[in-house]
Amino acid sequence: MNQIAQLPARVRLAGISKSFASGKQAATPVLSDISLELEQGELVCLLGPSGCGKSTILNLIAGFEQTDSGAILLDGSPVNKPGPERGVVFQQPTLFPWLSVLDNVTFGPRMAGVKKSVYLPEAERYLRLVGLQDFHHHMPWQLSGGMRQRVALARAWLPNPEILLMDEPFGALDAQTRLMMQELLTSVWQKTGTTILFITHDVDEALFLADRVLVMSARPGRICAEFKIPFPRPRDVEVLVADVGYGALKQKILHIVREEARKSMTGTAQ
Ligand SMILES: Nc1ncnc2c1ncn2[C@@H]1O[C@H](COP(=O)(O)OP(=O)(O)OP(=O)(O)O)[C@@H](O)[C@H]1O
Ligand SMILES: [Mg+2]
Repeated sequence: MNQIAQLPARVRLAGISKSFASGKQAATPVLSDISLELEQGELVCLLGPSGCGKSTILNLIAGFEQTDSGAILLDGSPVNKPGPERGVVFQQPTLFPWLSVLDNVTFGPRMAGVKKSVYLPEAERYLRLVGLQDFHHHMPWQLSGGMRQRVALARAWLPNPEILLMDEPFGALDAQTRLMMQELLTSVWQKTGTTILFITHDVDEALFLADRVLVMSARPGRICAEFKIPFPRPRDVEVLVADVGYGALKQKILHIVREEARKSMTGTAQ
């Protein structure tokens, strides 16, 4: 048994279900009996058709939403509200346009009354890790999309969250910038050991990043497939695509994702 397997799961979803009511319509089930675990330091990617409930899972773990049934446990304790041990990164960087890069990154600790002597060296460290050491005083509108997302990443990592919840954070970036962000994410993750749940639509992105890939079914979402990703780290995208196992694994995952997407488009799920 390896060292990770001896530790309790960092995050545990035990049989959770969630429905949303809309106007006078009856509540529609979105998630049905989802159980999953994230081990400490694990990077798990979640794939699935649009509308299957991926962001809902992330919002529940973040504490933004409440489950109808089942439990979400963080190191064994129930989660029902947001907390600093869970950082969130969204598809759009959502920076304050009137604050500089440094002020955006340090916003949380400043509002929490943390001393400057504590947060400033850490902010400088994370800005260095994301390659923005020369941009502390730039405003968000003076940055490219990828740079803005790097600011959001540094901001999410600054409070040293145990868990980082990432909802298609690189979805709006061009292919080259996305790859650089994926390399950046894995290199910072390997230094910090943060547990990461990463939502994506991109099978290549999942294969590059993940220790484990979970695939969700069409709505109501369930985990319908799980793959351990065997490629050694650090990963290099060119080495990866030349690996004989890569194409076969990609095809297997893609097949399930497409099948579920087809069901969700034609309404044949359930
Ligand atoms: N706060 C809410 N109120 C009402 N319905 C909601 C709410 N949040 C999500 N939903 C519904 O739940 C379903 C799943 O939404 P969710 O955003 O989790 O899907 P997703 O898998 O993240 O999709 P995408 O890949 O397009 O981002 C959708 O039908 C959506 O309309
Ligand atoms: Mg979503």
